[in-house]
Amino acid sequence: MAPSFSPNPLVFLIFPLFLLLSTTFHTLTTADPLYQSCETTLNYTSNSTFESNLNTLLASLPSNASLNNGFYNTTTGKNQDTVYGLVLCRGDVKKSICESCLDGAIKEIKQRCPNNKIAAIWYEYCQLHYSDKRFFSLMEDATKVTLVNTVNIANPAQFLPVLNDLLSNLSTRAVNDPSLGMFATEKTKFMGSQDVYGMVQCARDLSMNDCSRCLQGAAGDVMGCCSSNRGARVLTTSCNLRFELYPFYTDSGPTSAPPVSPSTSTVSKGSISKSSQVIIAIVVPIVVIFGLFFIIVACFILRKPKKKSNDDEEISTVESLQFDLDTIKVATNNFSDENKLGQGGFGDVYRGALQNGQEIAVKRLSSASRQGVLEFKNEVQLVAKLQHRNLVRLLGCCEDGEEKILVYEYVPNTSLDNFLFDPSKKEHLTWERRYKIIGGVARGLLYLHEDSRVRIIHRDLKASNILLDSNMNPKISDFGMARLVGVDQTQGRTNIIAGTYGYMAPEYAMNGQFSVKSDVFSFGVLLLEIISGQKNNYFNQSDGATGLLSYAWRLWKEGTPMEIMDPTLGGTFSRNEVMRCIHIGLLCVQEDVSERPIMSSIVLMLNSFSVTLPRSSPPPFFLRGRKEFSRNAILSDPRVSETEKSACNSMPMSVNEVTITEIDPR
Ligand SMILES: *[C@@H]1O[C@H](CO)[C@@H](O)[C@H](O)[C@H]1NC(C)=O
Ligand SMILES: *[C@@H]1O[C@H](CO)[C@@H](O)[C@H](O)[C@H]1NC(C)=O
Ligand SMILES: *[C@@H]1O[C@H](CO)[C@@H](O)[C@H](O)[C@H]1NC(C)=O
Ligand SMILES: *[C@@H]1O[C@H](CO)[C@@H](O)[C@H](O)[C@H]1NC(C)=O
Ligand SMILES: *[C@@H]1O[C@H](CO)[C@@H](O)[C@H](O)[C@H]1NC(C)=O
Repeated sequence: MAPSFSPNPLVFLIFPLFLLLSTTFHTLTTADPLYQSCETTLNYTSNSTFESNLNTLLASLPSNASLNNGFYNTTTGKNQDTVYGLVLCRGDVKKSICESCLDGAIKEIKQRCPNNKIAAIWYEYCQLHYSDKRFFSLMEDATKVTLVNTVNIANPAQFLPVLNDLLSNLSTRAVNDPSLGMFATEKTKFMGSQDVYGMVQCARDLSMNDCSRCLQGAAGDVMGCCSSNRGARVLTTSCNLRFELYPFYTDSGPTSAPPVSPSTSTVSKGSISKSSQVIIAIVVPIVVIFGLFFIIVACFILRKPKKKSNDDEEISTVESLQFDLDTIKVATNNFSDENKLGQGGFGDVYRGALQNGQEIAVKRLSSASRQGVLEFKNEVQLVAKLQHRNLVRLLGCCEDGEEKILVYEYVPNTSLDNFLFDPSKKEHLTWERRYKIIGGVARGLLYLHEDSRVRIIHRDLKASNILLDSNMNPKISDFGMARLVGVDQTQGRTNIIAGTYGYMAPEYAMNGQFSVKSDVFSFGVLLLEIISGQKNNYFNQSDGATGLLSYAWRLWKEGTPMEIMDPTLGGTFSRNEVMRCIHIGLLCVQEDVSERPIMSSIVLMLNSFSVTLPRSSPPPFFLRGRKEFSRNAILSDPRVSETEKSACNSMPMSVNEVTITEIDPR
């Protein structure tokens, strides 16, 4: 299914003529598509019900789309013969152009993707996607095409930040300004005089969040591949993005004719397997095009993005944090077994309900707590002040004789490990949810480390300490436990190792040294677990397999990092997000403490497509015991298999060859 770009030299001669005659460029819009993607492995039979449904569907698209401001999705047929279709016209084109573009598209897609049950086609002014599976409201960028103007820009170093700003402003506006209909164009100045033009658009069935993810992914691709080129575009079925050094859009709405688009003149094709990235180079006859332009591009008034809600929602009113033992006993049915939620490291946890109906979780500390009553209350007050939407809220405490009890908000959806490691529940964790969880945990941890009044090192971050609320938002639990049970926080060293083996940074596991960076290590382990759906378990290795960290590192080094992904995630994920998360995960689990990023950098890396990720070096080797963290120890350990030793030996200290665009996913 190679794209056929057959540049017709006549086109260049005909363009000016068209302009002079002020035609609507009907001929152009029905010309060759920019690209098409056909799922040739899934065919319908000729003259079948599916085919007749498809024909009905396709026929209804152009007029409905033009009536509906250039976007339309619809369904035809029943059961296995259902066809889902969606079309999107570029936000700045006239109704008539939208319609004629789609007229061409429906003819062309049947010819170019004969009998295929799933297909998509992209044109200058419109795109069309149909499938036998429902895809509305789903962000889908597994099929992604990047078209590049192969002429380089003269000052790439200066261009990069300008392009980055432009793309990020465009995405923000398209996502946050509902009046724009998920379409935004903008121009900005580069080197004082040169204009750079940008455009982004999402299919309007997407949520704001998904639109943003799609555009971020596309912008990330462009920044990665093409920030020194004079133009590029990214096409997916959910969104598209483009920049050029010449005006290619109209910004005065549908009253004026759209400007002429450049024609293709050279093509270097890649294979068109689903989800592979294809870079097709277009050499743009910029000079010719420039001469043709007479449309004045007015400036856009930049609108401020919506203000984000504040992360640190610290309360000012300190209510009484004291609960009396009788209240707790009533609430938990006298600590009955039915109410028991589980056993934590510091005691049993019970579910309960207060008389006003509020649900609570009650942690009954085991008598190991060495705190005096006053200290305990002080610490509770301090920890209760830590409030953040990604932290489980401590509501108060109760102490009565030997009893010391902590009262928390109740978080309904149990903990992350219950979903992540359970084959029957895994599928609830779509990539979107996992990504949201990763971001939430990072923000919660950042708050503990840097944004709250007192720095808290969690020391036991793990999947079972991440609770999920009814919307699957993550909430970190069990933070501040070292304070609450009276372990000295100030020294940065402790004999009581609180953490869970497998998540523990080597310096903590071996020497009891903890720091924000040991939490970062645990965060990295958690991240790789969330992506792979596998426990980082170092003990169960009868087959000599190394742990998750070494596995992730090996795949990364071999250029196939996506193989670590949980197979239950199927095809619905964003490559960019996954790649970025794997990379961040590997940065976090580096053996050298100083090379691990701090949480604020991690939050930044997760939120911005433009941050260049540093190189990572290998994670420490955890094999079978506590002492074998160093390479030499592994090599001299008789229990380590030869395969493991040679794997260890061949680990480079850093990797830099792996670039995101070169990796082919499954
Ligand atoms: C589907 O149809 C196309 C074109 O008719 C053909 O090339 C392809 O091999 C078919 N695929 C299957 C799986 O039958
Ligand atoms: C489909 O129907 C058309 C017209 O009715 C006929 O000419 C053609 O042979 C049919 N094709 C198949 C594969 O049955
Ligand atoms: C618009 O779509 C509806 C439902 O798909 C269809 O019944 C109708 O005929 C379409 N309108 C036109 C003008 O094609
Ligand atoms: C179009 O997509 C929206 C969003 O998913 C959906 O609610 C609606 O039902 C779809 N329209 C049709 C006709 O299927
Ligand atoms: C992006 O938006 C910011 C804030 O609104 C503005 O200062 C900046 O100039 C904009 N950049 C571009 C390239 O338009």
